[in-house]
Amino acid sequence: MIKEIKDGVLCFDGCSTLELAQKFGTPLYVMSETSILEKFDELRKCFLDKYPNTRVAYACKAFCSMAMIKLCEREGMCIDVVSGGELFTAISAGFPAERIEFNGNNKLYSELEMAIDYGIGRIIIDSPLELKMIEEICEKKNKKVKVLYRITPGIKADSHDYIVTGKKDSKFGFPIDEDVLYPEFERAIDSPYVEFMGLHFHIGSQILDNDPYLQAVEVMLSHIKDIREKLSYEVKEINLGGGFGAVYTDEEKKPYSYFIDPIMARIQNEYKENNLPMPSIVIEPGRSIVAEAGMSLYTVGNVKEIRGVRKYAAVDGGMPDNIRPALYQCAYDGMVANKADLPNKEKVTVCGKCCESGDILIRDCCVPENISRGDLFAVFSTGAYGYSMASNYNSNPIPAVVLVKQGISEIIVKRQSYDEIIERNLIPQMLK
Ligand code: LLP
Repeated sequence: MIKEIKDGVLCFDGCSTLELAQKFGTPLYVMSETSILEKFDELRKCFLDKYPNTRVAYACKAFCSMAMIKLCEREGMCIDVVSGGELFTAISAGFPAERIEFNGNNKLYSELEMAIDYGIGRIIIDSPLELKMIEEICEKKNKKVKVLYRITPGIKADSHDYIVTGKKDSKFGFPIDEDVLYPEFERAIDSPYVEFMGLHFHIGSQILDNDPYLQAVEVMLSHIKDIREKLSYEVKEINLGGGFGAVYTDEEKKPYSYFIDPIMARIQNEYKENNLPMPSIVIEPGRSIVAEAGMSLYTVGNVKEIRGVRKYAAVDGGMPDNIRPALYQCAYDGMVANKADLPNKEKVTVCGKCCESGDILIRDCCVPENISRGDLFAVFSTGAYGYSMASNYNSNPIPAVVLVKQGISEIIVKRQSYDEIIERNLIPQMLK
């Protein structure tokens, strides 16, 4: 068990949360290596080892740190990056460029140059202009790069509006307008600077139902058929994106196989019927690998009772280290980590320390009696899009990240200092 209670204290991957808080301070992000490895194992069993010619590209936007990238490298995964910064982090961690895939709706010219210089594995083209830029850079540098096209299959997945991306009205990818798409594919097929590998979709994030994937696969297969028939070109690779849901509160746990098996059955069937060899199949999970592997630890400060309304327990972090409740109104679970074996007796609303009424981490959380200053509060499943979306709002320093594994803990991202908060500030001559 990754989470367990020992002597009334919550332990995470063999480490006492109290000791972690004492050693590293709060607020603190804690990531369990064991939990991440379990996800990689599951992916190996139900995808990589089960179906030949498959790859997992961890979408590192979910949690981007050199240690996480190192872990992906060691475990034989690929990664998906979406910016020069993520690419730089990956390369700095020694990750092989040919195992990196580059997504994004507005890749900068400089980012494309950087990616091509490093010898990136794939670029997922998101607009007609991008092919032009790639060709220009490759011509200049005498290079050729493997590309896929991201299409928006016109599917509306059931998730928060900000994180669904497969519908036609989206800033991502190419809508299915054949008069635009096919000339574009043709250009890529004919270009001496790119190798046209195939198609990509990513329909959204925190998806708990396999049906939208199957609908998107249908759209994709029909285009692959059209490319075969109209352009006499056989697509070599299909990228199904990420988006597989994680468990935050009471969601039903969906194993990867729930999504992958029916998708693979459908694709295999299509290729068998056409008597063609299977293309490579790639998935890009981010959240599902790291969300449940993360826990945030906070120290409780002011506890305020608004009589007849609610009780607030304020912690020493909040929306700067976890913007997700404020941005997507999503729910988290948590507990008073130093009173982990006491029965829950009351409800409190756990809020942060920012000057925003929306800075609420958990509404109506059940806790033992008398939550008070100095208690340690743990929020669960914060491993995805917490640290990676952290900000310095209200000039709060970004917390440290600690990696834990079977009782061992090691810092993987240092806590930001006040000096670091102001280090890029300058007072101009005209104010001196
Ligand atoms: N591939 C592409 C092209 C993506 O855009 C994304 C996520 C992924 C893969 C990984 O999706 P995942 O498996 O993590 O769901 N900040 C939001 C999530 C934004 C996801 C953006 N794209 C949140 O905190 O919920």
